[in-house]
Amino acid sequence: MSEVVHQSLPAVEVRHVYAAYDGQAVLEDVHIDLPAGEWTAIIGPNGAGKSTLFRILLGVMKAQRGQVQVLGQEPSAQRRAGVMAYMAQQEAVEWDFPISVRDTVLTGRYGHMRGDAFWRRIVPPRWCDPRHWAVVRQALKAVDMQDYADRPIGALSGGQKKRVLLARALAQEARVLLLDEPLAGVDTASERLIMKVLDGERRSGRTVIMVTHDMDSARRYADKVLLLNRQVVGMGAPERMLVDEMLARTAAAGWVRDHEPLVEAS
Ligand SMILES: Nc1ncnc2c1ncn2[C@@H]1O[C@H](COP(=O)(O)OP(=O)(O)OP(=O)(O)O)[C@@H](O)[C@H]1O
Ligand SMILES: [Mg+2]
Repeated sequence: MSEVVHQSLPAVEVRHVYAAYDGQAVLEDVHIDLPAGEWTAIIGPNGAGKSTLFRILLGVMKAQRGQVQVLGQEPSAQRRAGVMAYMAQQEAVEWDFPISVRDTVLTGRYGHMRGDAFWRRIVPPRWCDPRHWAVVRQALKAVDMQDYADRPIGALSGGQKKRVLLARALAQEARVLLLDEPLAGVDTASERLIMKVLDGERRSGRTVIMVTHDMDSARRYADKVLLLNRQVVGMGAPERMLVDEMLARTAAAGWVRDHEPLVEAS
Protein backbone atom coordinates (compact mmCIF):
# COMPACT_ATOMS: atom_id res chain seq x y z
CA MET A 1 0.00 0.00 0.00
CA SER A 2 1.14 3.59 -0.64
CA GLU A 3 3.34 5.58 1.74
CA VAL A 4 1.82 7.97 4.23
CA VAL A 5 3.52 11.17 5.38
CA HIS A 6 4.37 10.86 9.07
CA GLN A 7 2.10 12.90 11.33
CA SER A 8 3.42 14.65 14.41
CA LEU A 9 -0.16 15.15 15.69
CA PRO A 10 -1.42 12.42 18.05
CA ALA A 11 -3.57 9.98 16.07
CA VAL A 12 -6.09 9.85 18.87
CA GLU A 13 -6.74 12.21 21.77
CA VAL A 14 -9.25 11.01 24.34
CA ARG A 15 -9.97 13.53 27.08
CA HIS A 16 -11.72 12.35 30.26
CA VAL A 17 -14.27 10.22 28.44
CA TYR A 18 -17.22 8.60 30.20
CA ALA A 19 -19.41 6.17 28.31
CA ALA A 20 -22.43 4.17 29.43
CA TYR A 21 -25.14 1.86 28.10
CA ASP A 22 -28.56 2.27 29.71
CA GLY A 23 -27.01 4.29 32.55
CA GLN A 24 -24.40 1.61 33.27
CA ALA A 25 -20.85 3.06 33.02
CA VAL A 26 -18.42 1.10 30.83
CA LEU A 27 -15.66 3.71 30.40
CA GLU A 28 -14.80 6.07 33.25
CA ASP A 29 -12.53 9.06 32.94
CA VAL A 30 -10.54 7.53 30.07
CA HIS A 31 -7.76 9.90 29.11
CA ILE A 32 -5.23 8.85 26.47
CA ASP A 33 -3.04 10.01 23.61
CA LEU A 34 -2.26 7.42 20.98
CA PRO A 35 0.71 8.49 18.88
CA ALA A 36 0.43 8.76 15.09
CA GLY A 37 2.59 6.46 13.02
CA GLU A 38 2.83 3.92 15.83
CA TRP A 39 1.26 0.58 16.58
CA THR A 40 -0.76 0.48 19.80
CA ALA A 41 -2.16 -2.76 21.19
CA ILE A 42 -5.18 -2.40 23.48
CA ILE A 43 -5.41 -5.15 26.07
CA GLY A 44 -8.09 -5.78 28.66
CA PRO A 45 -10.49 -8.53 29.76
CA ASN A 46 -13.89 -9.29 28.20
CA GLY A 47 -16.33 -6.48 28.84
CA ALA A 48 -13.51 -3.96 29.55
CA GLY A 49 -14.90 -1.42 27.08
CA LYS A 50 -12.37 -1.94 24.27
CA SER A 51 -14.92 -2.24 21.45
CA THR A 52 -16.87 0.63 23.02
CA LEU A 53 -13.74 2.80 22.83
CA PHE A 54 -13.48 1.91 19.11
CA ARG A 55 -17.14 2.89 18.58
CA ILE A 56 -16.38 6.26 20.13
CA LEU A 57 -13.21 6.70 18.03
CA LEU A 58 -15.25 5.93 14.92
CA GLY A 59 -17.88 8.47 15.95
CA VAL A 60 -20.71 5.91 15.79
CA MET A 61 -21.26 6.25 19.53
CA LYS A 62 -21.16 9.46 21.56
CA ALA A 63 -19.36 9.63 24.88
CA GLN A 64 -21.59 10.91 27.70
CA ARG A 65 -18.77 13.21 28.76
CA GLY A 66 -15.31 14.18 27.51
CA GLN A 67 -13.77 14.98 24.15
CA VAL A 68 -12.30 12.83 21.41
CA GLN A 69 -10.28 13.83 18.38
CA VAL A 70 -8.76 11.74 15.62
CA LEU A 71 -5.83 13.45 13.91
CA GLY A 72 -7.07 16.75 15.32
CA GLN A 73 -10.69 16.50 14.09
CA GLU A 74 -14.03 15.22 15.26
CA PRO A 75 -14.29 11.39 14.84
CA SER A 76 -17.44 11.12 12.70
CA ALA A 77 -16.07 13.74 10.26
CA GLN A 78 -12.82 11.79 10.02
CA ARG A 79 -14.71 8.54 9.43
CA ARG A 80 -16.70 10.14 6.61
CA ALA A 81 -13.47 11.56 5.17
CA GLY A 82 -12.02 8.02 5.04
CA VAL A 83 -9.25 8.74 7.56
CA MET A 84 -10.02 5.54 9.46
CA ALA A 85 -10.39 1.96 8.27
CA TYR A 86 -12.10 -0.38 10.69
CA MET A 87 -12.11 -4.14 11.02
CA ALA A 88 -14.90 -5.06 13.40
CA GLN A 89 -14.74 -7.82 16.00
CA GLN A 90 -17.95 -9.33 14.65
CA GLU A 91 -18.59 -8.28 11.11
CA ALA A 92 -22.14 -7.32 10.17
CA VAL A 93 -21.47 -9.03 6.84
CA GLU A 94 -24.21 -10.99 5.14
CA TRP A 95 -22.03 -14.02 4.44
CA ASP A 96 -24.72 -15.75 2.37
CA PHE A 97 -25.04 -12.78 0.02
CA PRO A 98 -23.60 -13.88 -3.35
CA ILE A 99 -20.75 -11.36 -3.44
CA SER A 100 -17.26 -12.39 -4.51
CA VAL A 101 -14.11 -11.88 -2.48
CA ARG A 102 -12.91 -9.33 -5.07
CA ASP A 103 -16.13 -7.29 -4.87
CA THR A 104 -16.04 -7.42 -1.06
CA VAL A 105 -12.58 -5.84 -1.07
CA LEU A 106 -13.75 -3.32 -3.67
CA THR A 107 -16.32 -2.01 -1.17
CA GLY A 108 -13.28 -0.63 0.71
CA ARG A 109 -12.73 1.71 -2.27
CA TYR A 110 -16.18 3.34 -2.21
CA GLY A 111 -14.92 6.38 -0.29
CA HIS A 112 -12.22 6.95 -2.93
CA MET A 113 -14.72 6.61 -5.81
CA ARG A 114 -16.42 9.86 -4.82
CA GLY A 115 -13.66 11.77 -6.65
CA ASP A 116 -14.02 9.76 -9.91
CA ALA A 117 -15.55 10.99 -13.18
CA PHE A 118 -19.34 11.29 -12.99
CA TRP A 119 -20.07 8.49 -15.47
CA ARG A 120 -17.88 6.12 -13.44
CA ARG A 121 -20.00 6.85 -10.38
CA ILE A 122 -23.32 6.00 -12.04
CA VAL A 123 -22.31 2.68 -13.59
CA PRO A 124 -22.09 -0.50 -11.44
CA PRO A 125 -18.95 -0.55 -9.26
CA ARG A 126 -17.39 -3.31 -11.37
CA TRP A 127 -16.85 -0.76 -14.19
CA CYS A 128 -15.04 1.60 -11.84
CA ASP A 129 -11.70 3.24 -12.59
CA PRO A 130 -9.07 0.47 -13.11
CA ARG A 131 -6.84 2.04 -10.45
CA HIS A 132 -9.32 0.77 -7.83
CA TRP A 133 -8.95 -2.77 -9.16
CA ALA A 134 -5.17 -2.38 -8.94
CA VAL A 135 -5.46 -1.52 -5.23
CA VAL A 136 -7.87 -4.45 -4.69
CA ARG A 137 -5.42 -6.84 -6.39
CA GLN A 138 -2.57 -5.55 -4.27
CA ALA A 139 -4.59 -5.86 -1.04
CA LEU A 140 -5.62 -9.44 -1.88
CA LYS A 141 -2.02 -10.29 -2.68
CA ALA A 142 -0.86 -8.79 0.64
CA VAL A 143 -3.09 -11.24 2.56
CA ASP A 144 -2.33 -14.09 0.16
CA MET A 145 -5.95 -14.44 -1.02
CA GLN A 146 -5.52 -13.57 -4.69
CA ASP A 147 -6.39 -17.14 -5.75
CA TYR A 148 -9.79 -16.82 -4.04
CA ALA A 149 -10.82 -13.56 -5.73
CA ASP A 150 -13.77 -15.09 -7.64
CA ARG A 151 -15.12 -17.19 -4.75
CA PRO A 152 -18.31 -16.12 -2.99
CA ILE A 153 -17.28 -14.69 0.37
CA GLY A 154 -19.63 -17.16 2.12
CA ALA A 155 -17.57 -20.08 0.79
CA LEU A 156 -14.48 -19.23 2.84
CA SER A 157 -13.24 -20.49 6.19
CA GLY A 158 -13.32 -18.20 9.24
CA GLY A 159 -9.60 -17.39 9.01
CA GLN A 160 -9.86 -16.71 5.26
CA LYS A 161 -12.78 -14.34 5.86
CA LYS A 162 -10.67 -12.44 8.38
CA ARG A 163 -7.93 -12.06 5.77
CA VAL A 164 -10.41 -10.73 3.21
CA LEU A 165 -11.78 -8.23 5.73
CA LEU A 166 -8.23 -7.12 6.41
CA ALA A 167 -7.71 -6.73 2.65
CA ARG A 168 -10.83 -4.54 2.52
CA ALA A 169 -9.43 -2.38 5.34
CA LEU A 170 -6.09 -2.12 3.51
CA ALA A 171 -7.83 -1.15 0.26
CA GLN A 172 -9.22 1.93 2.01
CA GLU A 173 -5.65 3.30 2.26
CA ALA A 174 -6.69 5.03 5.46
CA ARG A 175 -4.20 6.79 7.72
CA VAL A 176 -5.50 5.09 10.86
CA LEU A 177 -6.30 1.36 11.02
CA LEU A 178 -8.61 0.25 13.84
CA LEU A 179 -8.64 -3.52 14.20
CA ASP A 180 -10.82 -5.22 16.80
CA GLU A 181 -9.35 -8.64 17.53
CA PRO A 182 -8.01 -9.36 14.03
CA LEU A 183 -6.32 -12.53 15.32
CA ALA A 184 -9.35 -14.16 16.94
CA GLY A 185 -9.96 -17.59 15.45
CA VAL A 186 -7.09 -17.57 12.96
CA ASP A 187 -4.38 -20.24 12.68
CA THR A 188 -0.71 -19.58 13.38
CA ALA A 189 0.18 -19.08 9.72
CA SER A 190 -2.64 -16.55 9.18
CA GLU A 191 -1.72 -14.84 12.43
CA ARG A 192 1.87 -14.42 11.30
CA LEU A 193 0.73 -13.15 7.91
CA ILE A 194 -1.70 -10.62 9.42
CA MET A 195 0.97 -9.32 11.79
CA LYS A 196 3.47 -9.03 8.92
CA VAL A 197 0.97 -7.07 6.83
CA LEU A 198 0.19 -4.71 9.70
CA ASP A 199 3.89 -4.26 10.39
CA GLY A 200 4.31 -3.19 6.74
CA GLU A 201 1.45 -0.70 7.11
CA ARG A 202 2.97 0.73 10.28
CA ARG A 203 6.40 1.01 8.57
CA SER A 204 4.82 2.99 5.73
CA GLY A 205 3.66 5.54 8.32
CA ARG A 206 0.13 4.38 9.11
CA THR A 207 -1.20 4.32 12.65
CA VAL A 208 -2.26 0.86 13.77
CA ILE A 209 -4.57 0.47 16.77
CA MET A 210 -5.39 -3.13 17.52
CA VAL A 211 -7.47 -4.76 20.24
CA THR A 212 -6.06 -8.16 21.04
CA HIS A 213 -5.93 -10.87 23.68
CA ASP A 214 -2.68 -12.16 22.15
CA MET A 215 0.11 -10.99 24.47
CA ASP A 216 2.87 -12.56 22.39
CA SER A 217 1.92 -10.62 19.27
CA ALA A 218 1.53 -7.40 21.27
CA ARG A 219 4.94 -7.92 22.86
CA ARG A 220 6.54 -8.65 19.51
CA TYR A 221 4.97 -6.04 17.26
CA ALA A 222 3.36 -3.18 19.17
CA ASP A 223 5.22 0.05 19.95
CA LYS A 224 2.86 0.79 22.83
CA VAL A 225 0.40 -1.15 24.95
CA LEU A 226 -2.73 0.41 26.44
CA LEU A 227 -4.10 -1.55 29.38
CA LEU A 228 -7.80 -0.85 29.71
CA ASN A 229 -10.53 -2.09 31.99
CA ARG A 230 -13.23 0.55 32.28
CA GLN A 231 -10.40 2.91 33.16
CA VAL A 232 -6.84 3.27 31.86
CA VAL A 233 -4.53 1.09 33.91
CA GLY A 234 -1.36 1.84 31.97
CA MET A 235 0.08 3.00 28.68
CA GLY A 236 3.65 2.49 27.63
CA ALA A 237 6.22 0.12 26.18
CA PRO A 238 5.07 -3.54 25.93
CA GLU A 239 7.89 -4.73 28.21
CA ARG A 240 6.68 -2.37 30.96
CA MET A 241 2.97 -3.08 30.55
CA LEU A 242 2.88 -6.81 29.86
CA VAL A 243 4.16 -7.90 33.25
CA ASP A 244 2.27 -9.86 35.90
CA GLU A 245 1.71 -6.92 38.23
CA MET A 246 0.22 -4.67 35.53
CA LEU A 247 -1.92 -7.48 34.10
CA ALA A 248 -3.24 -8.30 37.58
CA ARG A 249 -4.06 -4.62 38.10
CA THR A 250 -5.87 -4.62 34.76
CA ALA A 251 -7.93 -7.67 35.72
CA ALA A 252 -8.96 -6.00 39.00
CA ALA A 253 -9.52 -2.51 37.61
CA GLY A 254 -13.11 -3.02 36.50
CA TRP A 255 -14.13 -3.20 40.16
CA VAL A 256 -11.76 -0.94 42.04
CA ARG A 257 -9.61 2.09 41.39
CA ASP A 258 -6.73 1.75 43.78
CA HIS A 259 -3.87 2.85 41.51
CA GLU A 260 -3.25 5.92 39.45
CA PRO A 261 -2.77 4.99 35.77
CA LEU A 262 0.85 4.33 34.87
CA VAL A 263 1.37 6.39 31.72
CA GLU A 264 4.91 6.51 30.38
CA ALA A 265 6.11 9.62 28.60
CA SER A 266 6.36 9.03 24.84
N1 LIG B 1 -25.12 -2.32 22.81
C1 LIG B 1 -24.92 -2.52 24.13
N2 LIG B 1 -25.92 -2.34 25.02
C2 LIG B 1 -25.74 -2.54 26.35
N3 LIG B 1 -24.55 -2.91 26.89
C3 LIG B 1 -23.52 -3.10 26.05
C4 LIG B 1 -23.64 -2.92 24.63
N4 LIG B 1 -22.45 -3.17 24.04
C5 LIG B 1 -21.62 -3.50 25.05
N5 LIG B 1 -22.25 -3.47 26.25
C6 LIG B 1 -21.66 -3.75 27.57
O1 LIG B 1 -20.59 -2.83 27.77
C7 LIG B 1 -19.47 -3.47 28.35
C8 LIG B 1 -18.25 -3.25 27.48
O2 LIG B 1 -18.46 -3.93 26.24
P1 LIG B 1 -17.38 -3.95 25.08
O3 LIG B 1 -17.99 -4.66 23.93
O4 LIG B 1 -16.88 -2.58 24.86
O5 LIG B 1 -16.23 -4.83 25.78
P2 LIG B 1 -14.88 -5.42 25.15
O6 LIG B 1 -13.76 -4.95 26.01
O7 LIG B 1 -14.81 -5.15 23.71
O8 LIG B 1 -15.07 -6.98 25.45
P3 LIG B 1 -14.63 -8.30 24.57
O9 LIG B 1 -13.19 -8.60 24.92
O10 LIG B 1 -15.54 -9.36 25.11
O11 LIG B 1 -14.87 -8.00 23.13
C9 LIG B 1 -19.86 -4.93 28.55
O12 LIG B 1 -20.24 -5.12 29.89
C10 LIG B 1 -21.03 -5.13 27.61
O13 LIG B 1 -21.92 -6.09 28.13
MG1 LIG C 1 -14.82 -6.30 22.04
